[in-house]
Amino acid sequence: MPFSLQLSHAAPASVDSPLLAIILPQHPSIDAAVRAVDAPLAGAIQRSITRRDFRGGRDETMLFVGGDTGAQRVLLVGRGSATLTRAVARRAAAIAARQAGKLGTGAMHVLLDGADADAIEGLVLGAAAGSWAYPDLQTQPPEKDRRARLESVTVLGADTDAVRAGFAAGAAVAEGQAIAKRLGMMPGNVCTPETFVEVGREIAARHGMTITVLGRAEMEQEKMGSFLCVAQGTPEEPRLVALEHRGGAPDQQPIVLIGKGLCFDTGGISIKPAPEMEWMKFDMSGAGGVMGAMEAIGRLKLPVNVVGIIGSTTNMPSGTAVKPGDVVRASNGKTIEIINTDAEGRLVLADLLVFAKRFNPALAIDAATLTGAIVIGLGANAVGVFGSDTSAVDEVLAAGSAAGEPGWPLPLWDEYKEQIKSDVADLKNTGGRAAGAITAALFLQEFVDGYPWVHLDVAGTAYSQVDLGWIPKGPTGTPVGTFVEIVRARARR
Ligand code: BES
Ligand code: MN
Ligand code: ZN
Repeated sequence: MPFSLQLSHAAPASVDSPLLAIILPQHPSIDAAVRAVDAPLAGAIQRSITRRDFRGGRDETMLFVGGDTGAQRVLLVGRGSATLTRAVARRAAAIAARQAGKLGTGAMHVLLDGADADAIEGLVLGAAAGSWAYPDLQTQPPEKDRRARLESVTVLGADTDAVRAGFAAGAAVAEGQAIAKRLGMMPGNVCTPETFVEVGREIAARHGMTITVLGRAEMEQEKMGSFLCVAQGTPEEPRLVALEHRGGAPDQQPIVLIGKGLCFDTGGISIKPAPEMEWMKFDMSGAGGVMGAMEAIGRLKLPVNVVGIIGSTTNMPSGTAVKPGDVVRASNGKTIEIINTDAEGRLVLADLLVFAKRFNPALAIDAATLTGAIVIGLGANAVGVFGSDTSAVDEVLAAGSAAGEPGWPLPLWDEYKEQIKSDVADLKNTGGRAAGAITAALFLQEFVDGYPWVHLDVAGTAYSQVDLGWIPKGPTGTPVGTFVEIVRARARR
């Protein structure tokens, strides 16, 4: 059964549910609606609060077992003392959904008293995130030993248009994130460049978008020597996929979303060390984010023109692979000396940024798991944000924080450009260890021609290497929320 999300305006005490999750702030007091739920539990909720067994701290939970009708189980979930935001609601609902998964209740109702549209959106996102799984490659236990997966979530919310809009936005973004997470979880032998073509075709068909697919031959015609040098080590057909959502006026300049789609990054001839190399299946997370965002934008029918472009291949060492010292020519004519074949993402993006120009972007935003340096600099809690147009950077930063995918700006000063000057070519593809995320972004900037552009380095944020409590170890869905938020904000103005 597929995952289903519903919005209900019912009073909490009137719902018949295997699990009612009630999200409460730090040191909560309960109102009449929750007291009505508490009555059949003989006041156990109130007692647990009075005794300070349950204090409403972030991620704190307490389970009450009810009768055979009404709320058959009640789960209190703390959301802590932070101001209620989309991200706070999302986290609490995800905790609830993961508990529901462990209990095997199959369905859940969730209540956050006084939730506005943004909090409702967060509840939907959290419920979906907390119930997300990728079971495809694992043998499931026999039916009798199995706990039911959480397959139905009903959000209790006010009967207003704003709440309905928040719910719809949450459901759309959740679906986009599910696409991105699924692609991110798939191993490199399952998610290939062809997978992006298939997923792209599905999204295009579902939402009436135009799709363009280029392979090696078409990229040769486009003189994409930078992208192609990464793909020359693999027998797999590289793919460039462009999806066009025409939601705005025909003459409106589009927002162009661009994603790095390395289905696996071995490093190539400059091969990576073996420990944790399996993590590099996630190196398509920028492209997965573009696909997920296009799905959400299509679902929401946002009245804006948006183009999503991904470049996908696999970085492999082989007899035909590009090697250090080689010089290649990108589609804008610039020559690049390959110093390190592991700096492949920027080589793929270079030709995508040139390709983007033909759409006459109002704004182009690329997302890429581009550098280890951003993981060192910002860790798992902030996206690296770069751009020369400060208002575009501010717009993206605002969108990221609204979406619960906060970013932090880093400079693109000319001084750093010295590091990527080459003796034999126009540029070299690496600038040494110092300021590695900045020199990577400066390299990309060389291929941006006259349109506002923002670069998101999501190497630290697209995939969590630890279980975060509210989401399991694995893909996070970043940057889907940021992308969709930017487009929504433009739709409003
Ligand atoms: N996909 C990696 C970036 C990466 C590295 C993400 C480690 C997460 C953890 C990228 O293609 C890469 O290998 N970058 C190199 C660049 C270097 C050779 C200049 C890096 O960051 O080490
Ligand atoms: Mn690499
Ligand atoms: Zn890479």
